[in-house]
Amino acid sequence: MKKRKVKVKSFIILGVVIILLIGGIILLTKITQNKKEDAQSSPNQEEIEKEQPQSSPSQEEEEHQGSPNEEETNKEPKETPPVSKYTDEKQEKLAKLDNIQNELDYFKMDYLDRYIAYSEKNPTLSKKDVVIRVNIGLDQEYYTNTKQSPYLNQNYILSNKYTSLGEYVPENLEEVSASCSSGTRLLVHEARVAFENMCNKAKSDGYTIQVMSAYRSYQYQVGLYQRYVDRDGVKEADTYSARPGFSEHQTGLVADIDNGSIAYTSFHKAKEYSWMKENAYKYGFIERYPEGKENITGYTYESWHYRYVGVDIATYIHEHNITFDEYYVQFIEGKK
Ligand code: DAL
Ligand code: ZN
Repeated sequence: MKKRKVKVKSFIILGVVIILLIGGIILLTKITQNKKEDAQSSPNQEEIEKEQPQSSPSQEEEEHQGSPNEEETNKEPKETPPVSKYTDEKQEKLAKLDNIQNELDYFKMDYLDRYIAYSEKNPTLSKKDVVIRVNIGLDQEYYTNTKQSPYLNQNYILSNKYTSLGEYVPENLEEVSASCSSGTRLLVHEARVAFENMCNKAKSDGYTIQVMSAYRSYQYQVGLYQRYVDRDGVKEADTYSARPGFSEHQTGLVADIDNGSIAYTSFHKAKEYSWMKENAYKYGFIERYPEGKENITGYTYESWHYRYVGVDIATYIHEHNITFDEYYVQFIEGKK
């Protein structure tokens, strides 16, 4: 009897356990199903980020653009957008010159107003030529605001109506050989050698070239200029003669030449002139006051006046058909 009771009890317990197990399994299945449904109806964070359209920044990116977070403030500063270094007024002025300051390393910001004024007075000139001419000084009266010539005793020494040699005397003056000169004429050593080489080559080609005026001292120019002024007046004399201290002859690098038969003032008519046009630069000489460039050099055309500048500079000037004044402000001034 007792055994039977125990059997019944065990059976009941087993039944309860089975029921509990089945109930547990049902509950678990339901929970799993619910989770799956939730997953299908709302995408997770990863999916949200993936689905963001690529063209518009995510929330995170927007925050970065608006205000940098703490991590970013500790990083290297971001490149700031370029800010013009000029005031609005200056920018407007530079625009009038086509912003040519970016192209010319000899552009002088201090001359900005002068460039604009000169450009307005000479509207057909290129902006580059405006800068070159104002740098020469051509917007100002001759012999005003003159400065001392730097680079003394160099082949590229400058002498013009804005640049004074004072009472400078060059080093190494030497006498030109008698076969290449009329009378005693002095040139600086290098120019003297070059001139004789040129004269000898001309001779072998059948031409006669001789120096009729070369180095002239400050004092000599005082007397010469005064004679011209007495004869023609200051205004006229200034068109063809330099004032004392301003003559290129004082550099010892200049030869006035003739062919020994016609007046030097008619040298442009001599066959020697054509020979010089073709050959002078090969020996380092340039025609210093050419025809058509009077408004740049400040002097009337002188077919007889040759300046030694060395072969490299002479070649550049010859090939580009410019004056030494234009060459100087572009390639010498402030660079040597
Ligand atoms: N005739 C030139 C310009 C001079 O006097 O130097
Ligand atoms: Zn001369």
